[in-house]
Amino acid sequence: MSTTPLRSLDARYYTDPDVFQQEVTGLLSRTWQFAGHVSQIPNIGDYFTFDIAGESLFAIRGRDEKIRVFFNVCQHRAHELVEGAGNTRLVVCPYHAWTYELTGRLRSGPNIKSVPGFDRSDICLSEVRSEDFHGFLFVNLDPEAAPMDDWFPGVRDEIAAFVPNLATLAPLEWIEIPESCNWKVSVENYSECYHCPINHATFAEGVVRPETYDIQPDYQGGYVLRHTTECQSMEKMTYPVDLSVPNADRYQSWFLWPMFSFQCYPGNILNTYHWRANGAADCTVWRGWYTDRGEDSDIIRTLAKQDLETTVAEDISLVESVQRGLRSRGYRPGPLVVDPACGVSSEHSIAALQKWMREAVDHPNRPPFNTGQQK
Ligand code: FES
Ligand SMILES: [Fe+2]
Repeated sequence: MSTTPLRSLDARYYTDPDVFQQEVTGLLSRTWQFAGHVSQIPNIGDYFTFDIAGESLFAIRGRDEKIRVFFNVCQHRAHELVEGAGNTRLVVCPYHAWTYELTGRLRSGPNIKSVPGFDRSDICLSEVRSEDFHGFLFVNLDPEAAPMDDWFPGVRDEIAAFVPNLATLAPLEWIEIPESCNWKVSVENYSECYHCPINHATFAEGVVRPETYDIQPDYQGGYVLRHTTECQSMEKMTYPVDLSVPNADRYQSWFLWPMFSFQCYPGNILNTYHWRANGAADCTVWRGWYTDRGEDSDIIRTLAKQDLETTVAEDISLVESVQRGLRSRGYRPGPLVVDPACGVSSEHSIAALQKWMREAVDHPNRPPFNTGQQK
């Protein structure tokens, strides 16, 4: 029986502004997106703004300590409410001074009592679904979206087992990396290691054992790609590792579709990737590095610098070249190298990602985007 190899996605998925618009209103508005870390807003009234799928949003800590996320728009005549980050007792709109409680309820507004029938209890800022995932705040613009534990089953507990100090971690730095490519090009590049042996010298010579590198798509039935690898030898580590801590000798990462990844390096060191799509051929990637309460650490800063100068720099030139190639009239999508045995030289993870991405654009009403029906 002959079978035909699976082909990579058509170039238009990465270049066509109409596809990008469909993603903005569909996929990117209906999946869990990283907003920030709860340690950015430790006190009542602390807030920060951020953008998801072309919407300005802000997260704010209420008097009940609960963090809520709102669309950054006044319910009077649509002025934006807050900018950047800060602390406030109440949210006051700069246009006509309508004033909201930290719960989003309208509290007062100049002269509103003169309006017959005006009931301020009817008016509240529009809240956005949010979840605290071990201190990492995620939002989903779809009010009907399934919770993160349905999308990413089991991951919450697994990460906790790999990172013992997860509860007290806070960001030390987020390194921002602009990339002139479609966000899917960058995410796909992150999600396979077929390119690693010839593009990342540190991959073959570093601490991992390349022949053990593997990626499991649909991990535990979720929209997760789990990367695992065994380590070469702990003596090659450039920083001290306490091997008495469980999982200290392992590398693992959990990519949470579509745009976030938790990585755990030997020594139980957590770091993250998150992406934002800015346009059909423009995205931003952040590498996040964390320490206990965000305290400074030479070890982590050195790791972050090494990572930026090697893996990150090497990957930027790859993804930007791919984006130029996708615009070529001479390109026809090639077959994916899907090895039934998986392993480091297989693109089975790309097959899974492209399936999710294609379906999100072509069938926006199928699972997981039709309410209540997870895959
Ligand atoms: S638009 Fe906010 S008070 Fe008028
Ligand atoms: Fe790479």
